[in-house]
Order: sequence, then C-alpha cells, then structure tokens
Amino acid sequence: MSFLGVDIGTSGVKAILIDRAGKALGEASAKAVEPVRPQPGWSEQNPADWWSATLEAADKLVVAHPEEMAAVRGIGLSGHMHGATLLGKNDDVLRPAILWNDGRSSAECAEMEAALPMLRDIAGNIAMPGFTAPKIAWVRKYEPQIYEKIAKILLPKAYVRLLLTGEHVEDMSDAAGTLWLDVGKRDWSDDLLKVTGLSRSHMPRLVEGSASSGELKTELARRWGMGAGVVVAGGAGDNAAAACGIGAIRPGEGFVSLGTSGVLFVSNDRFRPNTKGAVHAFCHAIPDTWHQMGVILSATDSLNWLGKITGQDPARLSGAAAEGFKGPGEEIFLPYLSGERTPHNNAGARGSFVGLSHLSDPARLAQAMMEGVAFAFRDCQRVLKDAGTEMGSLLAVGGGSKSELWLRLIATNLDTEIALPEDGDFGGALGAARLGLCAAENADPKDVMTMPGIKRVIAPDPALRSAYSDQYARYRALYPAIEEARK
Ligand code: XUL
Repeated sequence: MSFLGVDIGTSGVKAILIDRAGKALGEASAKAVEPVRPQPGWSEQNPADWWSATLEAADKLVVAHPEEMAAVRGIGLSGHMHGATLLGKNDDVLRPAILWNDGRSSAECAEMEAALPMLRDIAGNIAMPGFTAPKIAWVRKYEPQIYEKIAKILLPKAYVRLLLTGEHVEDMSDAAGTLWLDVGKRDWSDDLLKVTGLSRSHMPRLVEGSASSGELKTELARRWGMGAGVVVAGGAGDNAAAACGIGAIRPGEGFVSLGTSGVLFVSNDRFRPNTKGAVHAFCHAIPDTWHQMGVILSATDSLNWLGKITGQDPARLSGAAAEGFKGPGEEIFLPYLSGERTPHNNAGARGSFVGLSHLSDPARLAQAMMEGVAFAFRDCQRVLKDAGTEMGSLLAVGGGSKSELWLRLIATNLDTEIALPEDGDFGGALGAARLGLCAAENADPKDVMTMPGIKRVIAPDPALRSAYSDQYARYRALYPAIEEARK
C-alpha cells in the first residue's frame, strides 16, 4: 500500500510516493509556466497549467514506479496559498488566477477594513493584498462582468482537487488564508464573506487537512493503474504541508522555508493572532492546531530575478557568492521585488540595491541578495518574538536550502541552529502524502507527522555575529528612508 503527495508550487509541481511507514518510494517533478506580470506588482497564472504539471508529475511516477502507483490508497495535496481561482457555474475558469504575490489590491484592503471594523478580530489577520478576499474586491470593482459570473472561488490546490475528484472542497489551513474564514472557529464567516458581496454558496465545503475530501475519479485511477476508492485528503496550504512533512505540529516547532517566498513558521496549540507586525495566524492542517508565520514575498524569487537579468543560473550565482564570501560587503539588498508582507504590509514597497561600486559583480550582488533575505527573516523573527512566540531550533525546507552559505547567513542572523532534513526539497509534497495516509488509513496525525532524519545542522557563526548586527541595523534604516524618498 502506498500514498501519493502532490505539491502545487508557483514554480512547479513536485510529487512523492511513500509507504505505510512514511518511507519515500519515488519522486517526480514538473515545471510550471512562470507567473505572468501584466503590470508591476501583479502576478497571474493559468489554472490549466497547474493541472498539466500535476498530470506530468504523476505520469512520470507511473513510468518510474508503476507498482507503487498501482498500490496508492490515499492522495494528499499541498498548494501555493491565497490564489483566487474564479469559476463560473459549469466550473469554467473565468480569468487567470490572481496569485499570492500579487499586490494590486491595497486600496481594496483598506476599504474592506473600513467596511467591517471587526475584520481583524474575526480573520485573525490584517487584510493584505496577498490574501484571496481583497483580490475579489478588486475584481468586483474593475471587472464587474467577471464578478457577476462567479459561482465558486477555489484556491490552487482545491482547483486541482476538483479535477481529481469532481468536488469543491478546501482544507482549514488554506482556507485560513482567504480572509473569509473565522480562523478561531474553523468555519466560514458570513460577516467576512458579506464584505466582498459573497455567501457560503461561493465557498467550497471545509474539511480538516487530514480528513477525506472525496475519491479519485475512475478515469484517473485507470490512467495511473490504481484501484477503486482512492481517498483524496483535505491536504494543506504549502506551508502547513511543509510543517507536516518535517513533523512541526507541536507548539514552538517550526521551520524556515526558502522557496519562491520565504516563511518563518511556528506551530501553536491555540489560535494566536497578532496583527501588529503583520504576523499571519492560520489554522494548521490537523484538527485543533494553529500556526503563526512571517511571510516574505521574494526569497529564491530574488535570486531567480538576478539570474534572469544577468543571464546566469541562480544556483551558480549563489555558488559564486559562497566562493568569494568574506562576510558582509558594501552592497545591501532589500528583497521587496513583489512588495512585502511581514513586517511592513506594503504591497507597494520595491526592492533596492544600495552601496554599489565598480567592484559590484553578480557574485557580490547575489551575496547581498542572500543577506537581504536573511535580514527579512530576522525581521520576521523580531515580530514573532514581539508577539510572545518562542521558537526552538528550526528545520530548513525549500529549494534555496541547498545553499550552505544561505543557511549559515540565516542561522547567524536568527542566532538559531538550523537543521537540514534529508528530504529538504520535498517538504510540502511529503506533508501532503502524510495527510493522504492519515485520511485513507484513519491514522492519528501525531503518529504520522514525525521529524525526518537530519542531514546536517548549521550553527550560527560567532565570528560573523557582530558584523551582521551592524549590517542589519543599516538594512532596517534603509526601508523607511527609501519609502520616504519614493513618496
Ligand atoms: C503564504 C504565502 C506563500 C505561498 C507561496 O502566506 O503567500 O508562502 O503559499 O508558496
């Protein structure tokens, strides 16, 4: 018997097969079409691309592991959060999905908060343009002919689930990022829905991430050689899924994620909102559990951008930065290419390089970029601490965690040991597979979400501590000064 986890990421789909004991049996991935940016600060993707990448990854697994695919009993889904996928009455996609890193709806956020002064109390979060509801407020204002046709609004992985099962269902962790959920009660809020002119009929049915959401369609089970009755679990938003993948489900356990976005995540045993400092307070993917996180919008996305404009591979850029590394240099980078959530809640913020000279080559810029992301995590840690949240040592997940230097910079800046799991790049998919196992086998999530084997532990570098404290102070001073000058 085996279980399949599928992680629908912004840059591609990753899929993993595990056995009943949680051991990885095979992995596959498929690249997604990059988000389109029709205007600065906008970010859209075609939902059909998530589906074709999902099929490609699953088909690859059938070729490489036909027996293990045939033995699948449960499937779990993980997905990039917040993306507004608008469906008409026949489940037709009404427009490209507006993604988590799209900042067009700042004005609508302010309008929503004015319309419902209790909004932050119910949602447990600030209305931020990254969340789903403000995107719909924008569509209502600027594309009324589309808004009128909306029958259902799904998040990215719920759209993939619809094609897998035919059901409109969402799990609590992803639903928490819509701004329509009463996060403490784990239920849709009629008051929040009303702010965007919607009702429960526009929402998918809610389930816990570890519960069943439906069964795989017969034609897909046949395509992948599976039997009847394959259960599809509620699954999780990619961050809660990564937490399930690395066993961060008890209070204080957390991780740092270096993906397209950057996330500092910590599990909580109760709902702990703290809207000051733009901390996110969401449901976790398992019952009676919540989590907080600081979210930065451009982590590896910053390095990808530098790679694009210099014509160099991002991995080579971070490698070149590591080769020439001698501690902080003159260059400082603010990683706000898509605006920023934590701690600034400013979709209009933009990235900056400061301190350039004739010596500033791509390797030095890459180093400043990795440092800028480490400082942004330090900002997240600061506001989480302000909220009274204590974190133990952190695990690292996401593609950027392949860079030892990047992890050392983060460990030093957070003054925390960072452990690198053996399956770092498959955290979200592994967590999804584990949720699939829970749903299919009715297993207790606490027994399934164990900590992975640790490949290495990266300790803070005491020799760099004071130089980075000074550089971080400069970094912090830059944001208000630059914002003032950009007014
Ligand atoms: C979390 C967030 C991102 C996305 C993309 O709030 O917006 O981490 O989930 O991965």
